Formats: sequence, C-alpha cells, structure tokens
Amino acid sequence: MCGIVGYVGKRDAADVLMDGLSKLEYRGYDSAGIAVFENEVIKVAKSKGRLADLQAKMDQDGKPSGHAGIGHTRWATHGEPSDRNSHPHGGGNVTLVHNGIIENYKKLKEFLLAKGRNFESDTDTEVIAQLLDYYYEENHGNPIEAIVKTLKELEGSYALGVVFADFPDRVFALRKESPLIVGIGEGESFIASDVTAILQYTKNYYLLEPGEIAVLSKQEAKVYDLHYQKVEKELKTADWDVSAAEKGGYEHYMLKEIHEQPESIKKTITPRIENGLPNLEECGITPERLMQFNKIHIVACGTAMHAGMVGKYVIEKLAKISVNVDIASEFRYREPLVSEKDLVIIISQSGETADSLAALRLSKQLGAKTLAIVNAKGSSIAREADMLIYTHAGPEIAVASTKAYMVQIAVMYLFAFELALANKKIDEAECRRLTALLQGTPDQISKILEHKEMTQMIASELITADSLLYIGRGLDYALSMEGSLKLKEISYIHSESYAAGELKHGTISLITEEMPVIAVATQQNLFDKTISNIKEVKARGAKVILVSRDSYQPEKDVADFKFGLPEYEDLLMPMLAVVPLQLIAYYTAVLKGTDVDKPRNLAKSVTVE
Ligand code: AGP
Repeated sequence: MCGIVGYVGKRDAADVLMDGLSKLEYRGYDSAGIAVFENEVIKVAKSKGRLADLQAKMDQDGKPSGHAGIGHTRWATHGEPSDRNSHPHGGGNVTLVHNGIIENYKKLKEFLLAKGRNFESDTDTEVIAQLLDYYYEENHGNPIEAIVKTLKELEGSYALGVVFADFPDRVFALRKESPLIVGIGEGESFIASDVTAILQYTKNYYLLEPGEIAVLSKQEAKVYDLHYQKVEKELKTADWDVSAAEKGGYEHYMLKEIHEQPESIKKTITPRIENGLPNLEECGITPERLMQFNKIHIVACGTAMHAGMVGKYVIEKLAKISVNVDIASEFRYREPLVSEKDLVIIISQSGETADSLAALRLSKQLGAKTLAIVNAKGSSIAREADMLIYTHAGPEIAVASTKAYMVQIAVMYLFAFELALANKKIDEAECRRLTALLQGTPDQISKILEHKEMTQMIASELITADSLLYIGRGLDYALSMEGSLKLKEISYIHSESYAAGELKHGTISLITEEMPVIAVATQQNLFDKTISNIKEVKARGAKVILVSRDSYQPEKDVADFKFGLPEYEDLLMPMLAVVPLQLIAYYTAVLKGTDVDKPRNLAKSVTVE
C-alpha cells in the first residue's frame, strides 16, 4: 500500500518528508519521491527502489530545499516500478502524490490525449495530475474549483497530496476510500497516510472525510467542503507515542510485537471486563442486543480471517449460534445469504482492507447489523460499522501480523463469553471462570516467551525445506492456518495447513522425508486422534515438530522435536500455542535472511482489490 506525507511549516520540508516516509516503509513499496517548493518553484526528486536510493540521488543531484512539500512511497499497481512511474507526478501547474486506484483512468487519459496533453508515465496517478491541471487552466487558476471538477470525474479510490505551482507553501489534500489524516502542530501542519508518520512532530490530527479538502499553509490547516465552506473538524490525539512505533531494541518489529502480546492483551480486554464479567457496552454491545441474532458471519482477510476461525469454534461451542467464516474477497462477490437477523463481524487490523470494507458495506446493504473489530483508530471500517470494538495493540509495523491477531482472538473470546451468557448457554459462574482464564493468558504467554530457544532450534531444521504441512484438529486446526501463513509470508517457504483427520483423503501422499510436519496437539478431547494422525505421517518419514502441552512426552514414533506449552484450559490454548508458531516463522525467516518486517510483494494493508 502506498504511503503519503505532506508538510508545511518552519522545518526543512525534505527532511520531514523523508523521515515520515521512513515511518511508512512497513506498508511495502518499490519506489519513492518528494516534491518541495524551493524559492517558490516546485522541485521533484524521485527514484525506483528504497528510500536510501532516493537519498543517494538527492545527495548526488542536490536535495530540494524549502518548507513545504509532499512525499510518497509507491506500491506499484499501474505501471511497473521505475523512476518515471514513481510519484510525485506532474501535469503543468500541478504536482501530486496518490494512494489508491483510479478505475476509469483509461477513459480520462483518452480525453486528455485528445486535448493535446502528453504523458510521461504509465500510471493512473498522472491522469489525475493532468486532469487537475486541465480544470485548473479552465478555471483561471482556482485550485479548489479544479479539485471539485476533477473529483466529479474520478472513479475508484484515492488519497491525494497536491501542490499548485502558483500557490507556493500550500499543500492541498483530499481522499476517498484510501486513508489520509491532517496533522496539526505548532506553526506547522502535515498530511499522512497514518499518524505513525508524524508522531515525532505531533500527536494531534484531523480525520479527513470524503468530500473534504484540506488546505495546509504555514499559519494553519483549514478544511473545506466541495462548496468551499469551512468545515469545523474534531481534533483527535493519538494514544501512543513514538517509542511505540520504534523497534525498542529488538532486531525486528515482528519480534518486538510478538513480545508485546501480553501487554496488548491486557490493554485490550481489561477495559471490557467489569466485576469479573465481560462488559462491551462502551462498544455498543449489550446482552439484549446480542440476543437478537440468529446467525453470525465473520468476514476478513488473511490473519484476521484466521482469528475469525478461532472465533467460530469458541462462539459455536459456548453460545450455540451458527458461525460462518468467510474470506472477504469471496464473500463480497457471492451474493451472500445475509439477513436482517444476522450479525456480520468484520475483523481488520488496519481497518482499511478494501475487500473487508466492501464486505462491511454489502452486509449493511443486506440489512445485517455489523460489528467491526479493528486496531487502527479512526479507520474506514471502524467508522462505518454499526458496532465497534477497538483492539489496543498499538501500531503494528511488521507486515506479518502477530499482536493484532492475538488481540483479535482475545476480543473473540470476550464476545463469545458475553454472547453465551446473554443466551443463557452458560451461567454467570462459568462466565466468570472463563473470563478469569482469559485474563490469565498474558502471564502464560510471558512464560512461553522466556523459553523460546527451542523455536530457534526448530527453525534451523526447516530452512532447507521446500514445503511444510501444519496439521491439527478443532481449534488446533484453526491455529495451524495462522502458523502456516506466518511461515509462508516471511520465510518464503511454502506451507499448507491441513485438518489432521483429512490427511488420509489424499494429501498424505505428499509426505516424504523432505516434508517437515508441524503438528499442533493441545485439545485434550481430540488428543489421541491427533497423535494417531501424527504417527501416520511419522511412519512415512516426515520430520515432525510437535506443539503440545508440557505434560505430554512424545514417543520417538510421534515427534522429532516438541515445543511444550503450560497446562491451560483447552478453549484458551490457541492464545498460547500461536506464540511458538509465530517464533518458528520469525526465526526461520531470520535464518533465511529475508526482509522479515517488509517481506517481498506484501503490503501492511491491502487497500486495493
Ligand atoms: C497477516 O500477517 C498479513 N499481513 C495479512 O494476511 C493481513 O492479515 C490481511 O491483509 C488483513 O489485513 P487487515 O487485518 O488489516 O484487514
């Protein structure tokens, strides 16, 4: 996902922009650039590659010097990564940066070519710049008019930072679908794709809404509607500080975030527990409201969907309500059977995932009530759902989600406990007991984190593998999905999660001595069956890594390696068992030498389809 930063103030704009873009690197990118007013002339520096490549180019060609400008990290959608396709893009008086996709850019480009305009890049973004300039000239140099006219023709998603040559030291900003905030400092103002980029300068910001235009000047940031009427904005304050978005002495953000999980759980569940019982009223959720639902759909992508899988098992087991878990990109195009009596839960760390946002909107159109479980404050999904439970994991910088997943399942447990109590499927005493067990998980996870060396040893056994299987039954199967994705996305080793009981129906043919199997066996009611499945793969030569309870000592015909977990209630074991799976993936990636925090081809939030 692209990153945008803009600045107007007293500081060196290029430095502020480069610093802000470095805080957005985690979003994934393949090129970068900035545009700065230098003596009232727009100077552009841009380059394919990393920010370091852009810095080297500026060291060689000269860094634009001024106090106002815009910057961008590009995750290519239209036009391959290259210098000429890098942002900022210009069109006459206009220079801009863009996050999103313009779906009708080809039609607009044909119109502009017919008007005699030339293009330098293959991007949809340059079409916006040229169209803005076309209307700017048509409207005798009125930027707002040009913006209003242009917006009416754009189809798709955008967050834009725009500068006009005739308006030095002004930055214009607007958005639709893609995120953009306006940072408010002392005698300086900012725009950014997320507040992490500007935390070291200010924690105060406005959320820019679709149909609003922000105009940043040295004096202040003003927001207007499309009729150029001033809009009074609510000033928000980020509830974390720069250190929360830094590595804190860890080698990678991912390792830091794995270790932040106990604290993240506490921050997320403690405010939602009163007198030992779940209380989600601050999220708009009451027992009365919960009792109206006959069916629950959990819709998300990637790791968030895996959290939903854990939620399914827990809700169905405790509340006896049917739960359907769906991948958002499938749900949104399948004409899903969702009715007014249904609850649709959208889980999303970023709150900006395009497919998940579309699934939310579709669910509302179908008349269902919607509940969002989101980590990023003020994000689109958070703002559009009927009910909202924020997770409080703080900024998750590593592309591979760990602490966000952990707090998503923690919220799923709390929700399931409250739902089961509301539906009288469990009594208050049982609800208290389960809630107390949930509150006990941070300490259990801390114990696991103190003995992680076995995961490093296991990782060394995996780095030569071409492919792995992750197997389990019940909650262990739901968990194995997450373990498999973690390994794939950061170590680039293929893996697949599989229901242990399903192996004999075909997939066991893959088992050889070259295919390690990571087996999760924590559920006591399924334990013997899982062990017999493990023996089946062991007998066929697989190297087996077992994640199970400390109390179980595997025979040689079961496992080659075992990671032991503290004894805990079956239902809550996913919160413990996921930690070694995260660490195994992390150390395997470290040994493979991949870019752990920013794996290839991936972005932290996929805001395009
Ligand atoms: C998780 O490790 C991945 N980075 C990815 O699957 C992610 O979970 C997915 O893109 C959903 O993102 P969201 O939670 O921000 O919606």
